[in-house]
Amino acid sequence: MLAGKRVLLLIGGGIAAYKCLELVRRLKERGIGVRAVMTQAAQKFVTPLSVGAITGERVFTDLFDLTAEHDIGHIRLSREADLVVVAPATADLLAKMAHGLADDLATTALLATDKPVLVAPAMNPRMWAHPATRRNMAQLRADGIATIGPNAGAMAERDEFGEGRMAEPAQILAAIEAHFAGADAGSLKGRRILVTSGPTHEPIDPVRYIANRSSGKQGHAIAAAARAAGAQVVLISGPAEVPDPQGVTVIHVESAREMMAAVEENLPVDAAVFAAAVADWRVADASEQKIKKGEGGVPLLQLVENPDILAAVARHPALRPRLVVGFAAETEHVVDHARAKLEKKGCDWIVANDVSPATGIMGGDVNTVHLVSAAGVEDWPSAAKGEVARHLVARIAAALTETA
Ligand code: C5P
Repeated sequence: MLAGKRVLLLIGGGIAAYKCLELVRRLKERGIGVRAVMTQAAQKFVTPLSVGAITGERVFTDLFDLTAEHDIGHIRLSREADLVVVAPATADLLAKMAHGLADDLATTALLATDKPVLVAPAMNPRMWAHPATRRNMAQLRADGIATIGPNAGAMAERDEFGEGRMAEPAQILAAIEAHFAGADAGSLKGRRILVTSGPTHEPIDPVRYIANRSSGKQGHAIAAAARAAGAQVVLISGPAEVPDPQGVTVIHVESAREMMAAVEENLPVDAAVFAAAVADWRVADASEQKIKKGEGGVPLLQLVENPDILAAVARHPALRPRLVVGFAAETEHVVDHARAKLEKKGCDWIVANDVSPATGIMGGDVNTVHLVSAAGVEDWPSAAKGEVARHLVARIAAALTETA
């Protein structure tokens, strides 16, 4: 399955660059072709000669080499690969990617590519934690870029410890293998996919609302992954913390009732994934004016049930998608509750996760899920939310093909 695949490896200028030699060796052992591009800074850490000796191909370093050579341009270079891997992805490279800068061969190839991109960040922990890097990473994730690492550990600088070490070659290899095992770039071509994401805000009065801790990271990652797999995607999002994914039609809503209306307006679709954390209840009579303190004591909020969007779509008499996927956020008896929910909601799959505070899943970047269907329960390994999204999308593509 891996043999014959081609990886374009962009080596950035970090102390971890030497680990790329090991990564290339392991990729080659699996029959994966590797073509390498090195930034100028990377060449301070390893030489093009040693990288070329292992890839068995010429190493590219200069944007202008390519035009001089006539045989390969940077567009071709970036498109002949099945996957682009950036390792080590320095803070500088990530910033350039997030902003679409292209001032050398590596960044030009990144901007020119139409292929999936996996980055393995590596930098000093303070640089990794810096708000600018956080912003850039959020943007890259929203753009559908996959990430592996970084790991926590001792840094090259003495006395420095923290998150920022590049993932080990074995981990990067596993991420590459998972990628090739997962969604193919065109596996959802011609399909329409609807995704709900984020929390809902249920108004109490014009300035106050009831909400929950959903960030929208998982739902947005699913929308981005479905887009990367070639689908036409509608994302109906409550007030999420993450930016809109590119190439996706995003409809912003606030309340459960608005979300319900937007979902109905966008049917029919081939598959629908309900990742939003929809509020179960809303305030019966939201006040039109701001409720004043002190008048008539403490206000009593009367709650009423919100429409269940997932159940309504799964039981839709005319427009039920072929595949309806719900999420179940539970804090105990995760799989049992998910099984019960499958029945209750009438959906095909439930993606169940444990959101008790100790797991850090709610709002975090990693997710541990179980896929529950009539066929049984699958326990998936913990993975970045982007990775979980790609696996789910690969499964959706396979299910739609089976039932076509
Ligand atoms: O019942 P519970 O809220 O645990 O179900 C979670 C699943 O149902 C999620 O997929 C969520 O998006 C969906 N849901 C919905 N509308 C609601 C409540 C939940 O679509 N009002």
